[in-house]
Amino acid sequence: MFSLKELHSRIEKGLASLPFDKEPQALYHPVAYSISVGGKRIRPTMCLLSHQLFSRHIDDYVLMPALGLELFHAFTLAHDDIMDGADIRRGQATLHRKWNTNTAILSGDVMCIYAYSLMAQSAPAVLPQVLESFSRTAAQVCEGQQYDMSYEGWDLITHEDYLHMIALKTAALIACSAQIGALCGGATALQAQHLYNFGQATGMGFQIRDDYLDAFGDLAVFGKSIGGDILNNKKTWLLVDALQKAEGAELKELNRLLNLQDAPQEKVAGVIHLYQKLGIPQAAEAEINRLHEASSQALEQVDVPDHKKEQLYQYVVSLLSREK
Ligand code: IPE
Ligand code: IPE
Ligand code: MG
Ligand code: MG
Ligand code: MG
Repeated sequence: MFSLKELHSRIEKGLASLPFDKEPQALYHPVAYSISVGGKRIRPTMCLLSHQLFSRHIDDYVLMPALGLELFHAFTLAHDDIMDGADIRRGQATLHRKWNTNTAILSGDVMCIYAYSLMAQSAPAVLPQVLESFSRTAAQVCEGQQYDMSYEGWDLITHEDYLHMIALKTAALIACSAQIGALCGGATALQAQHLYNFGQATGMGFQIRDDYLDAFGDLAVFGKSIGGDILNNKKTWLLVDALQKAEGAELKELNRLLNLQDAPQEKVAGVIHLYQKLGIPQAAEAEINRLHEASSQALEQVDVPDHKKEQLYQYVVSLLSREK
């Protein structure tokens, strides 16, 4: 089996070899920039780790779709940063800040199109299943992003609403990555479904960790501005839980902060203070642990020897306790 380091090196080499040094530069330079500024490469990594449960080789029939998953992810980020008004990602200016909104839209679009062309290079025997899973997932990401935006304006959403939203906007792509890796490695539909379920639980825990880091992370490590979700009244796991738990004076204060305009520092500091008072960070950790357990249970279902799954178990631990 290849080590995580070896897989990352294959992914980086593959991404660097994609043909984005061409005209019009105004379209492709932002694409090259978006890929070159790094990122954790979780989706292609999930794909290749899942693949090597079933196959000893990595060829272009799995590497190309793995790269397609990363390109699709980069496309979603370009548009997400416009929607969220985010200035910094991966420690660098976001596309719409470095260039402008139209550039971020169009360079995002072309990344999505390249993603499809890379997915289409999957092993012919599984191509229909791969394209079906990927297309369904791509629509789910849009659905989740729509809920994410709509919920900003809602007073109250339930934990169930929240979990449904992140299953779509974030977990679906991670689940699909694990499933496609398995399919390309020759897994049966059932085994690939177990990997999908594994990716889904992992992805949901991953998004809650992201919500946590958006409030409690360190900009220098996390690479994104702290407090962006609070300023957008984003219905993160933290805010959903706080709105359920706060009562009396604390609820009044939370609502005052949510309606506060033009005092970003007061808003972010005030909401973080309330989160701490209400024990929200601990509750988020407990929810991540619950999803971690669900992720492990799904992986247990996969019918390959335990020692082969060790890499994936370890990888999930690193994702769910990440600081960046
Ligand atoms: C960011 O994804 C968007 C979320 C789903 C939280 P990542 O945290 O995987 O971003 P990069 O690719 O490592 O920058
Ligand atoms: C990520 O949600 C979902 C997608 C990009 C599809 P976030 O808005 O939380 O992601 P970040 O925090 O900007 O990376
Ligand atoms: Mg967003
Ligand atoms: Mg965002
Ligand atoms: Mg976030």
